[in-house]
Amino acid sequence: MNTSQQLPPLVVENLSKRFRQGTAVIEALRGASLAVRRGEFVAVMGASGSGKSTLLHVMAGLTRPDGGRVLVGGQDLSAMRDHELTLFRRRHVGLVFQAFNLIPTLTARDNVLLPLLADGRDVMAEGDLNALLERLGLAGRAGHRPDALSGGEQQRVAIARALVCDPSIILADEPTGSLDSVTGQGICRLLEELCREQGRTIVVVTHEPAVAVWASRIVVLKDGRVLTEFPTEPSRNVHDLAARYQDVVSTSPAEVER
Ligand SMILES: Nc1ncnc2c1ncn2[C@@H]1O[C@H](COP(=O)(O)OP(=O)(O)O)[C@@H](O)[C@H]1O
Ligand SMILES: [Mg+2]
Repeated sequence: MNTSQQLPPLVVENLSKRFRQGTAVIEALRGASLAVRRGEFVAVMGASGSGKSTLLHVMAGLTRPDGGRVLVGGQDLSAMRDHELTLFRRRHVGLVFQAFNLIPTLTARDNVLLPLLADGRDVMAEGDLNALLERLGLAGRAGHRPDALSGGEQQRVAIARALVCDPSIILADEPTGSLDSVTGQGICRLLEELCREQGRTIVVVTHEPAVAVWASRIVVLKDGRVLTEFPTEPSRNVHDLAARYQDVVSTSPAEVER
């Protein structure tokens, strides 16, 4: 498909999403739009409750929006039936969560292979699997179950699992949120390398400047909308980024019509 090749790999247009809680209606997304270029590493920053996880879930096709649309590789997720969407997501989108979401009874290796098995594909060539585990620093850990792995190792297993179907896009929701800061920085470095070395397109949602600084572009979400965006270059400095983010968030107009 030539036309889809020319579009950015991830396009989000005017998304809205409401949740009902008892009699209250929560507008988690209120016209969020975003385009991510091929091989770009974007961090979506926002306070707790700003709609980051909802945005990520809608981009991944895990949640359907009330309005707007998501194009992944030029394909409109809203046009797909649930079954098609599941297949599409498995092949094109790698997901990484704060809580790792590994299966506790499976070894690291089997956790990594799970998306391939679910996809009904033959198990990966041994050499390819070993190369993937090696790349993620898991070569000696493949036979361990999650409870025998450190938090950082568990998240690297989750990243290997996200990569196993060779997706063009990786979406990560607070991937360092359950890790100490040194381990978290290791995970950020790994994501940045996957982007730079393998040309993966990566979106990380986070409220932490120390995580966001690894991205090349910051998108600031507030009250379910994109408030502004800016590059992390040229300084790539976490203090500059934190100051700029604070400045943007605190000087934006007060929330309206909620
Ligand atoms: N399943 C849900 N049911 C009801 N409200 C929800 C649900 N998911 C999210 N929300 C609400 O939507 C808003 C945005 O949530 P979320 O996307 O999780 O924000 P963030 O990830 O930035 O903290 C919050 O007010 C949250 O309480
Ligand atoms: Mg969240």
